[in-house]
Amino acid sequence: MNHSLLNIDQLLRSVDSIIEEGLARDGVLKAISELLAEQVDHYDWVGFYIVDNSGENLILGPYVGAPTDHVKIAFGKGICGQVAVSESSRIIQDVSQEDNYLSCSVYVNSEVVFPIMKDGKIVAELDIDSHAIAPFTDNDTELLEAVCEKLEVLFDQ
Ligand code: SME
Repeated sequence: MNHSLLNIDQLLRSVDSIIEEGLARDGVLKAISELLAEQVDHYDWVGFYIVDNSGENLILGPYVGAPTDHVKIAFGKGICGQVAVSESSRIIQDVSQEDNYLSCSVYVNSEVVFPIMKDGKIVAELDIDSHAIAPFTDNDTELLEAVCEKLEVLFDQ
């Protein structure tokens, strides 16, 4: 399987269509999760974490994939918590190499986390787990950064 085959333009058009439907925020995030999980072979768990009002925790939002125990993640904990602090994406090609990692499933081998920024502050994250080892390329980064930029409009601050 060629993991780098992604129709980025088509996927981004689908993201635009979902946003234009005018659903409430969680409806949009669920539909985007479904789109990405269905259309990209190496995306096995796709979901969102939302920064809570304290600005110190991430709360699990809409997702597609196996249920996870990690419904609330403190800033700094795991890959998601590290991204919340750094406000920079992480691309982990082999999660077994990570010390500060929260495992969701024994089948997960790799993970990417991208911040959703609003007015220069992180408001949420897009988290994707893969059962493949090292499946992620620059195409994933291009796609997922663009998706996160589009989703900024869903957040108040
Ligand atoms: N693996 C993440 C936790 C969230 S699950 O992947 C859904 C982490 O280390 O932060």
